Amino acid sequence: MLIISSFGYLNFFYNLARSVAKAFCIFILHVKKILLKIFWLCSIFLSFPCFADPFMAGDLVLGEKLHKESCSSCHDGMVPGGNGDELYLSEFRAINSSSKLKSQVEFCANQNGVAWFEDEIESVSRYLNNNFYKFLN
Ligand code: HEC
Repeated sequence: MLIISSFGYLNFFYNLARSVAKAFCIFILHVKKILLKIFWLCSIFLSFPCFADPFMAGDLVLGEKLHKESCSSCHDGMVPGGNGDELYLSEFRAINSSSKLKSQVEFCANQNGVAWFEDEIESVSRYLNNNFYKFLN
């Protein structure tokens, strides 16, 4: 009698453990499915060209500020309408790649006595690329 009833207990715990384990497995499978979906969506999102950015490390706000402070006035004087940003438009630009853009930013900065660190050059390059050049890599 004692043996039978303790079997009943064992059976109960065995079944309980089984269903917990099963539920856990289903849960893990679901998590895996969701994670795969997220991963998939992310890879699609990141492979979109508009998210490609050769100057990822740059700070757009800093770049715009530095550009306004040190670069605009001279370029403005070079253009008939007084808007130096026109230099960067596709009709007038001489730059045709992101590496040339960065070199030109560095060159213009050095020529004009602005001692910028790498991150400042990167930021201004990013600002110009984002707003005008749109190089993807
Ligand atoms: C004293 C005047 C002057 C200042 C200040 C100046 N530039 Fe220039 N910049 C020029 C001239 C002149 C050119 C045209 C050079 C050429 O086409 O060979 C030019 C061209 C450029 C171009 C290339 C435009 C294109 O696509 O053809 C970029 C980019 C540029 N400058 C960035 C900067 C940045 C960034 C700064 C701020 C550090 C700056 N410049 C400051 C005179 C200046």
